[in-house]
Amino acid sequence: MGFLEGKVAAITGAGSGMGKACAKIFAREGARIVISDISGAQDQTAAEIGGDVVTTRCDISDEAQVSALVDLAVAKFGRLDAMLNVGGIGSGGLLEYLESDDLSRMLDINLKGMFFGAKHAVRAMKTTGGGTITNWSSLAGLIPSVGSGAYNIAKAGVAMMTRNFAVECGKYNIRSNAICPGMILTEGMGRAGYEAQPKRATVNPLGRPGAADDAGELAAFLASDRAAYLNGVLIPLDGGWGAMLA
Ligand SMILES: NC(=O)c1ccc[n+]([C@@H]2O[C@H](COP(=O)([O-])OP(=O)(O)OC[C@H]3O[C@@H](n4cnc5c(N)ncnc54)[C@H](O)[C@@H]3O)[C@@H](O)[C@H]2O)c1
Repeated sequence: MGFLEGKVAAITGAGSGMGKACAKIFAREGARIVISDISGAQDQTAAEIGGDVVTTRCDISDEAQVSALVDLAVAKFGRLDAMLNVGGIGSGGLLEYLESDDLSRMLDINLKGMFFGAKHAVRAMKTTGGGTITNWSSLAGLIPSVGSGAYNIAKAGVAMMTRNFAVECGKYNIRSNAICPGMILTEGMGRAGYEAQPKRATVNPLGRPGAADDAGELAAFLASDRAAYLNGVLIPLDGGWGAMLA
């Protein structure tokens, strides 16, 4: 029996990378899952997992679609225990040249998209005695870097949002935590980041990049009762990269 047996989870960005890895690992551990993506690739993920996986297309920048994702989990499985806000986009460029529209798009997807997920998860979880929210921030949401400022600003917002939900919703037995990846070699954003700056993959103390499954395993733990007293934490998943001075 898996350690997520009896749990119902909804996952955004589940067509690729860490969201896809979460879908596989949550299913392996016995969770019933509703998986979504803007790309349509959630159906491929479901086909690879097999079994009773519910899929839906969801653009997280549209609050109505995120609300519908939560409602779908409740309609299919009667409850929502774990909300995984994974989906997002990358960006490049210096802040001094950043255009307003580009910043808005970044905030709409990478910050507001996760806010909608957390907000509507709380709405559902309050009715069934609690749950867990896990947001994908970034090491770059904790420590600045040159050339991805818009992304970093959004991810820093996700970090604060995570902790704010934690302090506001603990009383409902809802835990809110964030995973802050360093360099994870996913097929999407991770691969693009690696190709742009390959040295970043090995500069950490472990000397290697992370894998999507590293995030999936951590997310499964955070959503489980094994993490019952963890609330409001921002966990670097970075091989120790963020602990280094240089
Ligand atoms: N890979 C890394 O090294 C790394 C590092 C730090 C943080 N992160 C964060 O981890 C999360 C997952 O990253 P990944 O590397 O697995 O990325 P990925 O590119 O492999 O997958 C991201 C998924 O999000 C989906 N997506 C994009 N815009 C969306 C939208 N508007 N609505 C719904 N889904 C949307 C994409 O279609 C894609 O399937 C992201 O939030 C990313 O910012 C990744």
